[in-house]
Formats: sequence, structure tokens, C-alpha cells
Amino acid sequence: MWNKKLRFLLVILGLGVVVLAAVVVQAFVLKPASTVALAQLPKGEYDPAVWGKYYPLQYESYQKNREMAPSPTGYGGSVKVQKSLKEPEILINFKGMPFSSDYAEDRGHPYAIEDLKGSKRINSTTVGSCMTCKTANIIDVYQDKGWDYAKLPLAELFLSMKHPVSCANCHDPATMQLSVANPAFIEAMQRGGIDVRKASREQMRSYVCGQCHAEYYFEPQTKRVVFPWDKGFTPEQMYRYYAQKPAGFEQDWLHPDSQARLLKAQHPDFETFSGGVHAKSGVSCAACHMPFMRHNGQKYSSHWVTSPLKHIEASCAVCHRQSADWLQTRVKTIQDHVFELQHTAGQTIARAHTVIGKAASVGKADTAGLDQARELLRKAQWFWDIVAAENSMGFHNPDQVLNTLGRSIDMAHQAIQRANKAAGTQF
Ligand code: HEC
Ligand code: HEC
Ligand code: HEC
Ligand code: HEC
Repeated sequence: MWNKKLRFLLVILGLGVVVLAAVVVQAFVLKPASTVALAQLPKGEYDPAVWGKYYPLQYESYQKNREMAPSPTGYGGSVKVQKSLKEPEILINFKGMPFSSDYAEDRGHPYAIEDLKGSKRINSTTVGSCMTCKTANIIDVYQDKGWDYAKLPLAELFLSMKHPVSCANCHDPATMQLSVANPAFIEAMQRGGIDVRKASREQMRSYVCGQCHAEYYFEPQTKRVVFPWDKGFTPEQMYRYYAQKPAGFEQDWLHPDSQARLLKAQHPDFETFSGGVHAKSGVSCAACHMPFMRHNGQKYSSHWVTSPLKHIEASCAVCHRQSADWLQTRVKTIQDHVFELQHTAGQTIARAHTVIGKAASVGKADTAGLDQARELLRKAQWFWDIVAAENSMGFHNPDQVLNTLGRSIDMAHQAIQRANKAAGTQF
């Protein structure tokens, strides 16, 4: 009798210990970044509103991406404004290609499809590759067709583009783990010896952004998206990569005045950030652009992905002890310095296009000399554009960016001198 009672008590006690241990492990060892219950989202569900039913805090903050407000520094911001208003040299430097007719400041993720559709840069010949970084529906399209979709007309693919950049671009619906949807990113990292599927959580907090916020080109035959990273992430390394004419890719266009074969740089936020002090200190894109917030005691990641200066306390004060004012002034000072040199580089390059054009029209001009001038200008423009096309006005990597612009200005002056020497002119 007594034995039975004791055994019963021991069993209860044993069960109690097991339950307690489970609670402790759950709470302290397996503790997720924030406490969210996993929902059963079906594969192929791309509507952020459906995801939002299960993850309301994340969805509400995602909805804020529709807010359009300028940045307090006067750079960036979420208002669609033509960049050429502040930098008219853009109209000369991109003459002969679509960026001279429409080149606006970027805004929030929910606008990605709308802004692509409304862009004057696209027409009936635009290829499907452009869909890659604009919609979560890319996942199905790539699964169905592989890279063959890249050659289809974009107008045809618009029909399957239902949802802009949204939850499934960054999350696996079954586990909610971060995951990269863009195959071009996975391929480029693989060539560099990195298996994205085995990346740490901290790395994924930048990789999910790097899959779209990066420089790329379309392979001439297949139109597939390729990231030019085989030699590294710096402007010089990417320039050397392009110099090899990968898969026959030589240029984006020929400038009508200077006849220089030019490359167009595209938003290299990931590459620029990667060499900067924050990346080197292990700070991810999400740390600044998706900081942790609290709502009724619940911790969650802000999904309002915009200028961190709009919530500087949450974004920066977790690591920096300086006041919000001090930090904002630092950012603005860096950006003012970068903008000044970016503007000078752009204007010097614009002058070089004109000078080479005029020098070439002089009958006796030495063609080899003119070609050297064009090569100098091609590189000068790449060094300017890789900074100008980046979205932080230098903040992501100030020292590299200022170095790049210094070299750009020098090369543009050399191009002008070389052209004048070839033609015996003084333009
Ligand atoms: C240390 C903090 C920090 C990190 C890390 C960081 N950024 Fe930024 N980012 C900023 C700041 C500050 C700005 C400038 C905002 C402004 O001008 O208002 C900015 C600007 C931007 C912009 C332009 C915003 C606008 O208003 O138009 C984009 C896009 C961007 N970052 C993407 C990224 C990506 C992608 C990564 C990672 C590869 C990254 N950032 C890493 C702080 C950071
Ligand atoms: C641009 C990429 C991106 C998009 C789009 C995105 N997320 Fe996230 N999400 C993140 C990152 C980064 C984290 C932080 C993950 C971590 O630290 O492990 C996160 C975390 C989460 C978490 C975990 C809890 C938390 O708040 O940290 C949930 C739940 C979540 N997101 C839901 C959503 C939902 C719902 C949507 C669509 C409305 C969405 N996400 C869209 C990048 C994204
Ligand atoms: C699937 C592609 C994709 C992914 C993933 C993505 N972005 Fe974007 N991002 C875009 C596009 C496209 C735009 C421009 C949308 C427009 O202007 O219509 C943009 C715009 C932005 C802006 C400007 C917003 C504003 O208010 O001006 C910021 C900041 C930004 N992204 C940061 C990030 C960060 C940080 C991550 C990772 C957490 C990320 N993005 C992941 C494609 C992406
Ligand atoms: C997760 C931590 C972390 C976050 C978040 C963070 N920083 Fe930093 N920041 C660092 C570290 C580490 C350094 C390297 C120098 C040091 O150790 O202080 C640094 C350096 C800097 C520097 C000087 C280096 C330079 O590039 O000139 C500035 C300015 C700066 N941060 C501004 C900001 C701003 C603005 C934000 C928010 C948008 C921010 N940081 C967010 C950790 C962080």
C-alpha cells in the first residue's frame, strides 16, 4: 500500500521534473528572437495580408512601407523624385539609354511592381529578368520555368506578378526562417564558396537584403541575372570582372557623344556595405533597417524597411551611446561630403563626354589616343555611378566611397587631357 503511494508520488515528481526541464529549455535555450507562434501557411501563399493574419505586428509595420516621407538628412527618403533635379549631369552621362529619361529616388517595398510598371525605362521589348527583384511570385515562376522566364517579355510576366516585395521574398512559410528567394544570389555566393542555405542567422539578416540590393547584369544570350562578384565586391574588382567580357557581355550601351562603351551600375548596397566598418563589426542590414521594437511587452522586428533615421533610437542607440542628434549630424556630414564629390565627379564626366565627342570630330585626331580617353572615361563613369547608384549617399562605407569618387574625378580629368592631346585641341 505504502509502496504503491510512494511509487505514484515518484512518478508524479518525475513527470514534474520533465515538464519543468522542458519549460526551462523552451524559455532559455530555444528562445526565439521574439515569441511568435508558427502558423500553417501553405506553400505558394504570397499575399502579405494572409501572412499578416498570423503575424499582425510584423504586418502592421510592413504596411508602414507605404508611407512616403523625406529623410531628415535631405538625401534618400521615400518620395519619388527625379535624381536629375539635383544632379542634371545625369542627363548627359546616361544619354542614349533609358536612365536619362527616368531615374527616380526609391521608395517602399509595397510599391515595387507599381513603380516598375510606371517606369519610362520599360517598353514592349523589356525582358522578364526585371521581375526577379520585384515580387514574391518569382518563386513559382522560377520553379516552373527555371531561368527560361528571363527571356520572356516582361509584359507577359506582369500577369503572374500579384504581390510586390513581401513576406515570401525573405521567409520560408513553413518555418518562418529567413530564406533567399533569388536564384542569382544563391549562384553568385556559391561561386564564391558560400552555401547560402548553411548561412548563420546573423548572415541571413544581410543576405535576404543582398539578394536584391546589389549590382547585376543580364547575360546576353540567356538574359539571366548575374552578380559580378567572382573577383570581389569593390568597384575595382567588379570593373576587372566586367573587363573580361563575361559570357560576351561587353557594355550596357554606347554613349552617343563620346562613343565610350559604358556600364550602368545598379544599387550596390550589399557590396558597398560589405567592406564598411559596420559589416566588419558584424552588424547586419536588419540591425539598422529592421530594429527590434516592443508592443505591449512583445518584442518584434520592425518590418518598416526605410531610412533608419526615421527611428534612430531603435536603430542606432542599441549600440551607440551618443545622442540621436549627434548621430544624425554624423550621417548628414558624411552624406554632404560624399554628395559634393559625387556631384563634382558627375560634372567632370559630363564634360569628358563632350570633350571626347568634339575632339573626335577634329579630322586629324589620333584614334588610338581617343580610344585611350574613352577607356579612361568608361572607368571614371563606373567609379562615379557605383557610388551614385548606391542608396545611402556614402553612409554604408564612407572611406571606400570617398576613395572611389577621388579616383573617378582623377580619371575623368585624365580622359579630357588624353582626348585633347589626341586631337591637338584645348577643349
Ligand atoms: C549601421 C546602420 C546601417 C546598416 C548596417 C545598413 N544601413 Fe542602409 N542606411 C543606413 C543609413 C543611416 C542610411 C541613410 C538614410 C538617409 O539618408 O536617410 C541608409 C540608407 C539605405 C537605403 C536608402 C534609404 C532611402 O531612404 O532611400 C537603402 C536602400 C539601404 N540603406 C539598404 C541597406 C542594405 C541592403 C543594407 C545591408 C546590405 C544596409 N542598408 C545596411 C544605415 C544602415
Ligand atoms: C525584406 C525581408 C523581409 C520581408 C519582406 C519580411 N520579413 Fe519578416 N523578418 C525579416 C528579418 C530580417 C527578420 C528578423 C529575423 C531574425 O532576426 O532571425 C524577420 C522576422 C520575422 C518574424 C519573427 C519575429 C520577429 O519579429 O523577429 C516574423 C513572424 C516575420 N518576420 C513575419 C513577416 C511577415 C508576416 C512578413 C510579410 C508581411 C514579413 N515577415 C516580411 C525579413 C523580412
Ligand atoms: C525581392 C527584392 C528585395 C528584397 C528582398 C529587399 N529589397 Fe529593399 N527594395 C527593393 C526594391 C525593388 C525597392 C524599391 C521599390 C520602389 O521604389 O518602388 C526597395 C527599396 C528599399 C528601401 C527604400 C525604402 C524607402 O522608404 O525609400 C530600403 C531602405 C530597402 N529597400 C532596404 C532593404 C533591406 C534592409 C532589405 C533586407 C531586410 C531589403 N530591402 C530587401 C527590393 C528588395
Ligand atoms: C549592432 C551595433 C550597431 C548598430 C545597430 C549601429 N552601429 Fe554604428 N558602429 C558600430 C560599431 C561596432 C562601429 C565601429 C566603431 C566602434 O567600435 O565604435 C560603428 C561605427 C559607426 C560610425 C563611425 C564609423 C564610420 O563609418 O564613419 C558611425 C558614424 C556610426 N557607427 C553610426 C551609426 C548609425 C547612424 C547607426 C544607426 C543607423 C548605427 N551606427 C548603428 C555598431 C553599431
